[in-house]
Amino acid sequence: METEEIQRLIRHAAEARRHAYAPYSRFPVGAAVLTADGRIFTGCNVENASYPAGLCAERNAVGSAVAAGVTVFRALALCGSTEDYTTPCGLCRQFLAEFRVPVVYCARSEEDYIVMAAEELLPRAFGMDAEKGDK
Ligand code: THU
Repeated sequence: METEEIQRLIRHAAEARRHAYAPYSRFPVGAAVLTADGRIFTGCNVENASYPAGLCAERNAVGSAVAAGVTVFRALALCGSTEDYTTPCGLCRQFLAEFRVPVVYCARSEEDYIVMAAEELLPRAFGMDAEKGDK
């Protein structure tokens, strides 16, 4: 992907982070996923008083795209809240593998990000080869 395209995706993730509902961890996270047809869907983490019921930003972004009928993705950008790069949790890695998201940009800013390929995120991922269509 071109640098400008990556930076635009990161910008969307950072904007989504502003809406994070993270009163328990105080760790806002934003994600933005780019679809094969060029659209961007965003998500933030949404926590709950019953902690395990909380949802991660990545899964909310991908879920939002799927709800709009899109299941083919080019990339996802992720913005957390630490000095270090925030990388997807284990559950999200499995979730991203389901939809074959090929690359994740873990960003500290638009200019400062690391690139994680699918195979690096979850080597030899478990999958069932579901028929997902090509929407
Ligand atoms: N979180 C995400 O949304 N994505 C990640 O990649 C890492 C963790 C959220 C879950 C929880 O709301 C908070 O960050 C602290 O773990």
